[in-house]
Amino acid sequence: MSSDYPNKIVTAVIVGAGNRGQIYASFAKVHPQKFKVVAVADPRKFARALIQKEYNLQNNHVFEDFQDILKLDKLADCVVIATPDTLHKEPAVGFANKGYNVLLEKPMAVTEEDCKAICAACKKNNVILAVGHVLRYFPPFQKIKELIDSGIIGEVVNIQLHEPVGWFHFAHSYVRGNWNREDNSTFVLMAKCCHDIDLLVWWLGDQRCTKISSFGSLFHFRKDKKPEGASSRCLDCSVEGDCAYSAKKVYLERVKQGMTGWPVSIICEEPSIKSVTKALKEGPYGRCVYDSDNDVCDNQVVNLEFAGGQTASFSMVAFTEKVCERQVKIFGTKGELTYNGSGPVYRFDFNSKEISVHSAAPSTINAGQLSGHGGADYYLIDSFVCAVAENDTSKVLTGPDVSLRSHLLVFRAEQARQENRVIFPQDHH
Ligand SMILES: NC(=O)c1ccc[n+]([C@@H]2O[C@H](COP(=O)([O-])OP(=O)(O)OC[C@H]3O[C@@H](n4cnc5c(N)ncnc54)[C@H](O)[C@@H]3O)[C@@H](O)[C@H]2O)c1
Repeated sequence: MSSDYPNKIVTAVIVGAGNRGQIYASFAKVHPQKFKVVAVADPRKFARALIQKEYNLQNNHVFEDFQDILKLDKLADCVVIATPDTLHKEPAVGFANKGYNVLLEKPMAVTEEDCKAICAACKKNNVILAVGHVLRYFPPFQKIKELIDSGIIGEVVNIQLHEPVGWFHFAHSYVRGNWNREDNSTFVLMAKCCHDIDLLVWWLGDQRCTKISSFGSLFHFRKDKKPEGASSRCLDCSVEGDCAYSAKKVYLERVKQGMTGWPVSIICEEPSIKSVTKALKEGPYGRCVYDSDNDVCDNQVVNLEFAGGQTASFSMVAFTEKVCERQVKIFGTKGELTYNGSGPVYRFDFNSKEISVHSAAPSTINAGQLSGHGGADYYLIDSFVCAVAENDTSKVLTGPDVSLRSHLLVFRAEQARQENRVIFPQDHH
């Protein structure tokens, strides 16, 4: 599963020691002979202290702000940037200019100009850039790519990709949480689905997109949909029992069952019944989903046409039982591929009328915190660390050009939605 590396430990600075920063840092626990965390920057004391303790960092390598690291001589081979969406460009450009190789969480940035500036800085300084499009590393999606490239379904004509976000996940992240407002983070297609548009482009062999349209709205999580008698916080709501989005159900019930991981771990530092109750009484995660300050779409569709005449459609929906188990249909001239969100990939062959089953390679390693996204988090950082160790950009599937290309399409799709028209992307790069 993991590549062989030269005899070198890649050293890293973690910028943003929240959920994702902690996950990537844990590669050092899985492979201490390959990866070493040597410094951290995060304004939250609790977050940086976790990294300091876990990776035994000296006090003078623990910082409140990444700018303080930029004032010093280069401390490490690479930086992992896992700061909030609106704070990607400054650290990415700053660390690239200091000669650090960069693992940058997706989305790259929240404006086209910033995405371009990041790519330009990495290229100018000749450093490796890997963007956190972990889905390219998800084993079933790699299997789909392999099957398409083998020609087993002939030429691909159409792709349908559906992202079910999950009712409570959407309420947690996009109604009450960090990604609920465009001005605080970015629009939902960028925040949640830049992965997905990237997958479509990747599976189609990096074909140029020639037309794109999109529709979407904030359908449900609005003040005018608030049930009669509901209060503005779930803990003192008289109709909470009938509400699937109740914060009591999403957080308190979980912690009562001893489930203190995501999403409970996001709302307070050391989850217990007492601390979660306090967070729900006082913090953003206890708010009524109909009475929050959210403004991002809870359903969106995107249609794309490519230079060869192929078409693709993507849908993101909040109101689903499945949580992020993407469903895929790929229609080729000789057969079709189906992936139902879990399990193997199925191929139906039009000529023989037979179904063949294609399982992705199972994970053979216990990747701990890196097991997220079906092990894709592990594969992504493994590829990046290997690329840095060998100074070989070809190890990275999510480099600057392909990542910029799909980000630009996401901006075009959102423009199409907002302007209610078809966009003809001219400049693909
Ligand atoms: N690839 C994926 O599938 C995936 C999944 C979730 C999140 N993300 C992305 O990862 C990034 C981080 O998300 P998260 O869920 O870890 O958020 P988080 O809020 O848990 O972590 C962000 C951290 O950045 C810190 N921070 C803020 N300002 C800083 C500064 N000046 N210097 C250093 N640190 C600073 C915050 O204190 C916080 O600890 C976001 O861009 C998010 O969209 C990607």
